[in-house]
Amino acid sequence: MKILIFPDAEAAARETARRIVAQLVAKPDAVLGLATGGTMEPVYAALAAAVARGDCDGRRFTSFNLDEYVGLAGDHPQSYRHYMNRHLFDAIGLPAAQARLPRGDAPDPAEEARRYEAEIAAEGGIDLQLLGIGANGHIGFNEPTSSLASRTRIKTLTRGTVEANRRFFGPDEQVPSLAITIGIGTILESREALLLATGGAKAEAVAAMVEGPLSAACPASALQMHPRATVICDEEAAARLQLRDYYETVHPGGTEPAITAPKGLERTRT
Ligand code: GLP
Repeated sequence: MKILIFPDAEAAARETARRIVAQLVAKPDAVLGLATGGTMEPVYAALAAAVARGDCDGRRFTSFNLDEYVGLAGDHPQSYRHYMNRHLFDAIGLPAAQARLPRGDAPDPAEEARRYEAEIAAEGGIDLQLLGIGANGHIGFNEPTSSLASRTRIKTLTRGTVEANRRFFGPDEQVPSLAITIGIGTILESREALLLATGGAKAEAVAAMVEGPLSAACPASALQMHPRATVICDEEAAARLQLRDYYETVHPGGTEPAITAPKGLERTRT
């Protein structure tokens, strides 16, 4: 896992957007895995701005979102479909057929989950999977104790997750307690994974993900098994990392310097 630490949330989000743009420049018809949540809002703002400047093509990629609340139709203001339209899809004009999310109001949610998994496979899998992290270490809506080999399915949300997401709902609105989420096995098959974590509320989860044991108790720790996973965080989210000095030595200022043989190791010939 590469750990890149940036001074603040804004710089971390900018770097995340830069990497998505680089992916779209390299492969304009890439398959992206997209995430929701407050953490991603500045990423999508930066991505939409990059598309508007013409830095990359925002109309050729296909995207699969990680998850959707069971019971919410796409036009519900708190549905993830609505979030994505508002924060990204409408701004860049991505054709609707390429902007995929599970249908929260599908008559048979379990069948919808299976269909969604098959749809991802039919598109050839995900090139770049963007991820946030829950304070309890969840990715997508794979709550603690999720199988690390899981596929897209229905998950019951923990009380903590329901409470954390309550801030997006009105005071009289009911927060859904079930979601359709891409599985951890599905996430691990992405060709590259990029997880963004900002703010002190994520510090414990980030430390457990990066330095804790590989365990279903922290679903994000499954990324330790991903061959190409990068964690981008700000100083606050990095605060509990024990090996922080090491990460900052390898990736100073969040950069990825070219690897060259260090000077001074040559043997002196006698
Ligand atoms: C939800 C989403 C996750 C997201 C998490 C963190 O639970 N299903 O994909 O990572 O929220 O959200 P936030 O960025 O708002 O902290």
